[in-house]
Amino acid sequence: MSAYDEAYRRSIERPEEFWGEAALGIQWDLAPATVHAGGRWFPDGRLNTCHNAVDRHVAAGRGAQAALIYDSPVTGTTRSYTYLELLDEVSKAAGMLRDLGVAAGDTVVIYMPMVPEAVVAMLACARLGAVHSVVFGGFAARELAVRIDHARPKVVLSASCGIEPARVVAYKPLLDAALEQAGHRPDHCVILQRPESPAELTPGRDLDWVAAVGGAEPAGCVSVAATDPLYILYTSGTTGTPKGVVRDNGGHAVALQWSMSHVYGAAPGEVFWAASDVGWVVGHSYIVYAPLLAGCTTVLYEGKPVGTPDPGAFWRVVSTYGVRTLFTAPTAFRAIKKEDPSGNFAKKYDLSALRYLFLAGERLDPDTYHWASDLLGVPVIDHWWQTETGWPIAANSVGIERLPIKPGSPTKAVPGWDVHILDADGNDCPPGAEGAVTVKLPLPPGALPTLYRDDDRFARSYLDRYPGHYLTGDGGHLDDDGYLYVMGRIDDVINVAGHRLSTGSMEEVIAAHPDVAECAVIGVADEVKGQLPMGFVVLKAGSERGQEEMERELAALVRERIGPVAAFRRAVVVSRLPKTRSGKILRATMRDIADGNPYTTPSTIEDPAALPEIARVLSDTGGH
Ligand code: COA
Ligand code: AMP
Repeated sequence: MSAYDEAYRRSIERPEEFWGEAALGIQWDLAPATVHAGGRWFPDGRLNTCHNAVDRHVAAGRGAQAALIYDSPVTGTTRSYTYLELLDEVSKAAGMLRDLGVAAGDTVVIYMPMVPEAVVAMLACARLGAVHSVVFGGFAARELAVRIDHARPKVVLSASCGIEPARVVAYKPLLDAALEQAGHRPDHCVILQRPESPAELTPGRDLDWVAAVGGAEPAGCVSVAATDPLYILYTSGTTGTPKGVVRDNGGHAVALQWSMSHVYGAAPGEVFWAASDVGWVVGHSYIVYAPLLAGCTTVLYEGKPVGTPDPGAFWRVVSTYGVRTLFTAPTAFRAIKKEDPSGNFAKKYDLSALRYLFLAGERLDPDTYHWASDLLGVPVIDHWWQTETGWPIAANSVGIERLPIKPGSPTKAVPGWDVHILDADGNDCPPGAEGAVTVKLPLPPGALPTLYRDDDRFARSYLDRYPGHYLTGDGGHLDDDGYLYVMGRIDDVINVAGHRLSTGSMEEVIAAHPDVAECAVIGVADEVKGQLPMGFVVLKAGSERGQEEMERELAALVRERIGPVAAFRRAVVVSRLPKTRSGKILRATMRDIADGNPYTTPSTIEDPAALPEIARVLSDTGGH
């Protein structure tokens, strides 16, 4: 039996033995006597995640090794922190939070750009046993307000601004607006002033980061239960209310540390770079926690794959720091390919340190796979996972055994994940047949135990559809060799440039426009971003508004309410939406039309003329 088959079988047949062994890689304050009980991992263990990510490496002699390298082409800055320096920064930031009354179990919202202080803030919360909730900078004030109201933070940690290539994004006014809209009031906001756009501070409420941290005594690690929450990360569901994915401390530390060696094949001391954002799960898991738990050097890159300043940006970082493992989203490679199709920029740099390119966040199309593979000459590993799972469900687990690659497939289920493709009746689909991708319970350590303050929604969203299985929300199939193919979401979630967005939340915003009677938002194919949202609106009777002005206003509205990250630019006015006689909007058919694919008119359609109208309007307004 191959090493992969053996590991996989053991993880499914004897999960307690398997994860009990993996738990030996973590330093516990109280080692767990029980591996799994009542749906929770390591229920009687106690530990501190920050201790495992920082302190223990200093104690083990890694103090002088770089822990965090900050590279920011948008500000022209680089900075490196050794494990010892990181320990010092994190202990002081934790001391500052403690002085502000933050204790174990309290929540802290972090709304920060890609600066080292964001990583320090996360680790400082973990040090105190406080629960952080990082909100991505590309969201609008309203989205931040919704998260503040749900997470009810004692303190908000933020910065005066973020820096996008074309503009400085003032974060502080967004935070102020969010706090005006939110019902919940944090006691304090601590603001990192950046020279590009310093912010006004509100006396009494706002503190300056440097002053507050500078005056604090360092705080030590607080021991927490393995089952206590480490963080909440809000992600898009099918409605406008985001889901607060909860991550525990113990299972998370065990799974992430295990994944570094077994999935990514990474060893302590190596340079690991996830080119994502700390606001997403990839950033939480593979910029911050996993590389540090594993004693690697992690890279925090404040820039883009293109335009900062050119499509050689990634190759400069790889060669400068000797990056061994690069992890990003396929969209980044499509963006690079568009500007540098022959890969000339890559040829200017020494990329010899690079061993693997891992891609996730959206489907890796075979064209992008081949282009990246030819360009870099290293294995290009597609792997599939989601915010809820925290680490890969399917991958080529190169640390166990490198399996042959099949372009278009993220290879096989990672040990711990009992993947099943189910049909509508809950039966396993035969190889080749499309169905819902599910994971048979129990989920392995590191996966979400619940949704924050919403156990019912957790059950409704993930467990009720197929009792005994977790519903991933993706559709796909297995082939005869057990390779998984993930073809796309089977719900109203779309994926724009590797960012997960809810069409339902965009519909809620558009429906609030005074001239809109009805609307639908779908994701249409885009060459670089994978998908882009597109709105279809029916105007209220008597409205005289024109196509162009509606499109402009709706784009501005979605940008203002959800944020620029939604990249909502296209909206078309139609006289009716295509629906079934029972009133269900025919989104899949609309998507086919918008993507220029052949489509069939469902027999259940209410008004057959609605579909040709969509095709006509799209062609009149320049396609998508
Ligand atoms: N703060 C404020 N605004 C932000 C932001 C942030 N942290 N991140 C993105 N935005 C804004 C951008 O400025 C842009 O605004 P614009 O409409 O004014 O141009 C908008 O949100 C969309 O951003 P983005 O999705 O990054 O698109 P882009 O056109 O600027 O760049 C790519 C396209 C492909 C280069 C970019 O998406 C990318 O690098 N993706 C890498 C993959 C990735 O990080 N995936 C995350 C999960 S792994
Ligand atoms: P997020 O929670 O933001 O990480 O988004 C998770 C979703 O992105 C998944 O449910 C998939 O729809 C999609 N996704 C992530 N990685 C892949 C992949 N390798 N192949 C196909 N889809 C992916």
